[in-house]
Amino acid sequence: MDPVCQANTFPGTTIRSRTSPLGPKPCSVYGNVDETRNRVEQQRMANSKIAVIPGDGIGPEITETTLHILNEIGFHADWVFLEAGLPAIERGLPPMPPETIERIREIGVALKGPTTTPSGGGHPSANVALRKALDLFANVRPAKTLPGLKNLFEGKNIDLIVVRENTEDLYAGIEFKPDPDMALAMKVITRPGSTRLCKYAFELARRQSRKRVTAVHKANIMKMTDGMFLEVFHNVASGYPELHADDVIVDNCCMQLVTRPERFDVLVTENLYGDIVSDLCAGLVGGLGLAPGANIGEHCAVFEAVHGSAPDIAGKGIANPTALLLSSVMMLRHLGHDEKADRVQNAVLKVCGEGIYTTQDLGGHASTAEYGENIIKAANL
Ligand code: NAI
Ligand code: MG
Repeated sequence: MDPVCQANTFPGTTIRSRTSPLGPKPCSVYGNVDETRNRVEQQRMANSKIAVIPGDGIGPEITETTLHILNEIGFHADWVFLEAGLPAIERGLPPMPPETIERIREIGVALKGPTTTPSGGGHPSANVALRKALDLFANVRPAKTLPGLKNLFEGKNIDLIVVRENTEDLYAGIEFKPDPDMALAMKVITRPGSTRLCKYAFELARRQSRKRVTAVHKANIMKMTDGMFLEVFHNVASGYPELHADDVIVDNCCMQLVTRPERFDVLVTENLYGDIVSDLCAGLVGGLGLAPGANIGEHCAVFEAVHGSAPDIAGKGIANPTALLLSSVMMLRHLGHDEKADRVQNAVLKVCGEGIYTTQDLGGHASTAEYGENIIKAANL
């Protein structure tokens, strides 16, 4: 077992052992997801600047708690606060201001809170703009059972990663109305885009000693777009003979995720299916409050929770900061701070597993801040 994996094992838990037919997984699910860094990138990261977008809704609350925890465990960065979402719009700027994008491009790494996107009309998505501008092509979203945590699927030992394409598909934003009663959207799937994503997923699976990579698609209906994605997937898979490669139609995938989630390991899929399936996976392991993510490109990485701005609970001080905190764990590993990542991750396992100081979404009564203080206590034991 490598030292990072060893340190990730929380005493008294079985965080990495599982009863899956795929056998034990030796590596942390919140492990480093980016091996694309070259020497120039590492030097740039060594200057310790990290961009932060608090966002809106619950974003500022969970960002504050996350940064407080990182500070209290001794991780001190030069945090560069940037605007996006509703605060930017209120100042007459686009939801993802060009200055914010350029600063992240310079700095190379960002921690991002959620940003609201209205349904129907209104402003375009800040997230789509950022992911496209910085070519953050791989959206990595792990879903892992936290031992001890009470939820609908407890005892299932779920440990999977959704790798979602992040720049193409129906999210390319090409929509138009040829007449008032018809609206059309264009689904964009490219061979280079699918190839780099599938390669990324297989490399990630190899690095984390995973066993299986499954393509999720609807190629039976969308024969050209999803058909090409599937063809690329199987071509790429042939270069990784040690990994079991299979594919599943997205609707069947959703059913199987609920009935036998342990069947899955790494899932690789297009933008829209990945968005939907990753929220489903979050539900399997206790909800959106626990689901972290990373947006990875060749030159930049942006770490953010799967969830959105949760306007229904914003400003009440009850949001669960774990998803953003675990996103920061992925960021710490990306930056090479494995010891600090282990401490935060193990503190989350302890506090959530004990179930005494959890937030309301997990059935507890702790406020965001109280939960944060208990994470700090657990991390500094
Ligand atoms: P949502 O993810 O914000 O919330 C869904 C449900 O989960 C709500 O009941 C919410 O209270 C709960 N929830 C989410 N995060 C939680 C947390 N940390 N702790 C406790 N409960 C939590 O999804 P919704 O309501 O569909 O979207 C709200 C807004 O967020 C929309 O404008 C949407 O476009 C945006 N959004 C932004 C994302 C981003 O910035 N990356 C991602 C997803 C949605
Ligand atoms: Mg989503």
